[in-house]
Amino acid sequence: MRLELREITKQFPGVLANDRISISADRGKVLGLLGENGAGKTTLMNILSGLYRPDSGEILIDGEPRLFSDPADAITAGIGMVHQHFMLVPVFDVVESVALGAEPVTGLVHTFDRATARKRVVELSAQYGLHVDPDAKIEDLPVGVRQRVEILKALYRKSDILVLDEPSAVLTPGETEELFAIIRGLAAGGTTVIFITHKLNEVLEVADTITVLRRGRVAGTVLPDETSREELANLMVGRDVELTVTRSPAKPAGVVLELVDLNVRDDRDSMAVRGVNLEVRAGEIVAVAGVQGNGQTELVEAITGLRQVDSGSLRIGGQVVEHASPRRVSDLGVAHIPEDRSRDGLIGSMTVEENYILDSYHRDPYSNGGRLDWKVIGEKAEVGVREFDIRTPSIETHVGALSGGNQQKVIVAREFSRPVQLVIAAQPTRGLDVGSIEYIHRRIIEQRDAGAAILIVSTELDEVLALGDRVAVMFAGQIVGVLSSDQATKEAVGMLMGGVH
Ligand SMILES: Nc1ncnc2c1ncn2[C@@H]1O[C@H](COP(=O)(O)OP(=O)(O)OP(=O)(O)O)[C@@H](O)[C@H]1O
Ligand SMILES: [Mg+2]
Repeated sequence: MRLELREITKQFPGVLANDRISISADRGKVLGLLGENGAGKTTLMNILSGLYRPDSGEILIDGEPRLFSDPADAITAGIGMVHQHFMLVPVFDVVESVALGAEPVTGLVHTFDRATARKRVVELSAQYGLHVDPDAKIEDLPVGVRQRVEILKALYRKSDILVLDEPSAVLTPGETEELFAIIRGLAAGGTTVIFITHKLNEVLEVADTITVLRRGRVAGTVLPDETSREELANLMVGRDVELTVTRSPAKPAGVVLELVDLNVRDDRDSMAVRGVNLEVRAGEIVAVAGVQGNGQTELVEAITGLRQVDSGSLRIGGQVVEHASPRRVSDLGVAHIPEDRSRDGLIGSMTVEENYILDSYHRDPYSNGGRLDWKVIGEKAEVGVREFDIRTPSIETHVGALSGGNQQKVIVAREFSRPVQLVIAAQPTRGLDVGSIEYIHRRIIEQRDAGAAILIVSTELDEVLALGDRVAVMFAGQIVGVLSSDQATKEAVGMLMGGVH
């Protein structure tokens, strides 16, 4: 179906999230939607999918004005949405998740007709090449597969218009390629696709047209063949962005983080980290590369005290921390940018300033004599908001109301707001726009040059190569190679990531 959004306006307290935005997409075409963090992409899509009502403006489907009173209404009209933050229930299996809310009913009793639902899930998976086990539990599936379940859910409801809000932020390069094949297949079959991403290469590869938003407005609409990454970045941020990081050679000093023969188990009790030996010195960045699910998550959790160490030794600044609590690790001067920001990094129902002191409220200068000094906390939070360009109406806004990328910036600002000897950063720029990535990369290098030891874990090869003074590649729980920055080419690291060595 042809989709047109005309002059959509949506005001939130203190933010004009959508300011007379007009976009359109033809049947069977892919519209790439780009825009800096907080530009209004998710809000616009939430309006399209009936979650929010616009203050003004029109939605036209095949030329007919439509207004959806709720998501069910939009689904009936053929609009499917895969949300930025997954909304699947972990304990359901695939068939239940896909059919939930649209179950076939058998007989007189309103019971779930699993056999029919399952058959249709299997058919749809085959038709669109979405390989998923219909009987697997959601919690046991890797994120890439969960993504496909979300897409299946939209297809099951016969979506003619499919919105994918940053679907590739959590995918591996291989999974992203598969997703693109799926998107192309859907478009060829007549589905209109809106694809939101921060990755410029991706939008250039898969979109038929690209619309760029900035601060709630359309900054421009361009064709992939007639634009470049530089132009897109400029349209998004309103200035030129350095897409490559420049840094001087590292000057490594004493060992800060030392892992010797470290073994760590995952939630299912199998060994996720196997005999890892690694040193990170003051003044250097060690980047751990690897496809998601090769033990990096467990490694970081063990270092930061969030997960029990099975055996081996772990020292930070000479202190033994194998069995230390997260609080003790933090108090040793360790900054942690966690992989899962909604679970380990932020509390959505608390304000920006409260989140700013989550792990340091007991320390100077925030606490004096057991009482919180809100004046100092407020001042510090204001500085963070300004320096990291966090788009929020105020520091009293609940973090949950911020856009995805701005939530991530709150964590980084907080973690970099105190002197530290070690920075542990897992996927530090996931979900961030190009301007914010540039800024955070620069701040990480500054921390290095100020003498901190830095361990970065990233599934983004570009990020690993841009930042790592040494690159350690993890595969199947082991470090299968450590390369110096001149040895670390895309090909060399890529081969090791795939288990070839
Ligand atoms: N429910 C809400 N209540 C209050 N403010 C909101 C709400 N939802 C979004 N906003 C605000 O509207 C603006 C646009 O947010 P939106 O989530 O649409 O951005 P986005 O372009 O999707 O960004 P990102 O790339 O970071 O996901 C932001 O300033 C955000 O804080
Ligand atoms: Mg968003």
